[in-house]
Amino acid sequence: MEKLQTMRLNDGTSLPSIGFGTVQVKGAQGVTSVLSAIEAGYRLIDTSTNYNNEGMVGEAVRRSSTPREELIISSKLPGHSHGYDRAILMIQESLYRLGLDYFDKYLIHWPLPKQGQYEEAWQALVDAQKFGLIKTIGVSNFLSEHLEKIIEKTGVTPATNQIERHPYFNNNELVEYNKSRGIVTEAWSPLGREINDVLTNETIVKIAEKYNKEPAQIIIRWNLQNDVLTVVKSSSYAHQKANLDVFDFELSEEDMKQIDALDKGEAGRVEGQHPNEYEEFD
Ligand SMILES: NC(=O)c1ccc[n+]([C@@H]2O[C@H](COP(=O)([O-])OP(=O)(O)OC[C@H]3O[C@@H](n4cnc5c(N)ncnc54)[C@H](OP(=O)(O)O)[C@@H]3O)[C@@H](O)[C@H]2O)c1
Repeated sequence: MEKLQTMRLNDGTSLPSIGFGTVQVKGAQGVTSVLSAIEAGYRLIDTSTNYNNEGMVGEAVRRSSTPREELIISSKLPGHSHGYDRAILMIQESLYRLGLDYFDKYLIHWPLPKQGQYEEAWQALVDAQKFGLIKTIGVSNFLSEHLEKIIEKTGVTPATNQIERHPYFNNNELVEYNKSRGIVTEAWSPLGREINDVLTNETIVKIAEKYNKEPAQIIIRWNLQNDVLTVVKSSSYAHQKANLDVFDFELSEEDMKQIDALDKGEAGRVEGQHPNEYEEFD
């Protein structure tokens, strides 16, 4: 398998172009799953306080034979802690849950614009980075208007914006906006989380057959060629390996366009979670 390519961030650090997702990955089985992912070659592990599994991720980090400094542990600030003081305490508490003394990456999970506190939350991440609690700071589910506000308020541009993106909801406008601001896009639910049928979509299957690859690999490659980091989850070692095996082929421009054409706009979101409306606190 070819080496996992990296992506350069606006803060001078780099991330692997594919990360391992952990929604619903919990308990002892979760530890096994994360250890298996590390064995398969993943180094970036994506968790969140809202996934109720930070302890499990910390346990996998401790049990892994891969040194801590080679792993990139990323978590997310929950909606109930957007106030400045609460955010600083939450970041510390999250680190205690994981048993770590710094995060490699930390994001604001959702902007919750109706609550009107995401600017404060961003200031907390900026300061936590200065205190040495976080190496790279970013956001998740932020639209361009939210990004404009936090950049204007603090002068600090997030390094990454983790957003919903899969062929039925490609979010291309926001991907382009992120690019224009020097922000790396991370794609969540890249395979549609088995809620939608993107892995059996006729166009994707045909393209997969053409390159002698699996549908999931085609989608991950489509992200890669759009400079988008893919955060993908799998409980199977074979799928975990396959999802990293995407560096030995290139999709043609025509095939890239065909995948873009599968977009269904707002109707394509897996769970209808529009960042201006959706609220999730814990
Ligand atoms: N920031 C946010 O708001 C947000 C929201 C949602 C998700 N996320 C992050 O994004 C991560 C990924 O999204 P997700 O977990 O929703 O779903 P996903 O990665 O789109 O899909 C996971 C599903 O795809 C299957 N799969 C994986 N590789 C496959 C392959 N090669 N062939 C066939 N099936 C395959 C898995 O089944 P098997 O287990 O059988 O392989 C699993 O059921 C999350 O875990 C989380 O870390 C972030």
